[in-house]
Amino acid sequence: MGRVDGKIAIVTGGANGIGRAVCQRLIEEGARVVVADMNAAAGAAVVAELGDKAEFVTLDVRDEDGWQALMDGVLARHGRLDILVNNAGILATTQYQSIDDIKLDEWEAVQAVNAKGVFLGCRAGVKAMKSGGGGSIVNLSSIAGLVATPGIVAYGASKGAVRQLTKSVAIDCARKGYGIRVNSVHPGLIDTNMGTESMSMGGADPVENRKKRISATPMGEAGVPLDIANGILFLASDEARHMTGAELVIDGGLTAV
Ligand SMILES: NC(=O)c1ccc[n+]([C@@H]2O[C@H](COP(=O)([O-])OP(=O)(O)OC[C@H]3O[C@@H](n4cnc5c(N)ncnc54)[C@H](O)[C@@H]3O)[C@@H](O)[C@H]2O)c1
Repeated sequence: MGRVDGKIAIVTGGANGIGRAVCQRLIEEGARVVVADMNAAAGAAVVAELGDKAEFVTLDVRDEDGWQALMDGVLARHGRLDILVNNAGILATTQYQSIDDIKLDEWEAVQAVNAKGVFLGCRAGVKAMKSGGGGSIVNLSSIAGLVATPGIVAYGASKGAVRQLTKSVAIDCARKGYGIRVNSVHPGLIDTNMGTESMSMGGADPVENRKKRISATPMGEAGVPLDIANGILFLASDEARHMTGAELVIDGGLTAV
């Protein structure tokens, strides 16, 4: 028996990096997974690799109507939703994101995906799950939602919003007896496209910056997508039945020092 046997899951941004590893772990543990991403080519490739327990739906998490169509389709095909992982996110739209450099449209572009996208996901997920008696929502924040990020102010603010939104939705759902748990996950440096992109922010030398980041991490290494996927699997499963409004930090000890 798998840890999420028979559950119906949606993973946004599931076509790459952490989201892709989450889809794989959920399927290995018995779930059926809807990979929802705006990158249709990568999404189709992931589904081809993961087999008949995976299906792809094109979704831009900024699009309110897209969320409605996604949920209508999932409820029509599967009858319920048990797990929603709001994973899609972007780091920046340009390299220069300190308070001295950042333009308003860059700030707004990051909030639109990382904050508005997670808000729309939580709202749609709660609506779908409460009609089925409950579920688990996992939101991807970051250590950037916990500590200062002077070189990426929009990203840090968006991830702080995800942390706080998670707690508010969690408590609202708990007090109303919806049976929906909502938790946030806070990765440190993880080797994905975004992890690589973050190394050259502000025009930094990516090789030197990576060395610096790794030496600041007490465990002395970057994480891999599976490290985060395993934490998300736990929160998504009934093993975490007494957890809501919580923060799971997976960062090799970086924010503990
Ligand atoms: N990699 C890290 O070091 C790190 C650290 C902390 C937090 N995170 C968070 O983890 C999550 C996943 O990051 P990753 O490193 O796997 O990123 P990634 O860039 O490798 O993958 C992100 C995925 O999200 C999709 N996406 C982007 N915008 C979208 C939109 N508007 N609608 C739908 N899909 C969209 C992309 O197509 C892509 O498939 C993000 O929320 C990120 O902020 C990552």
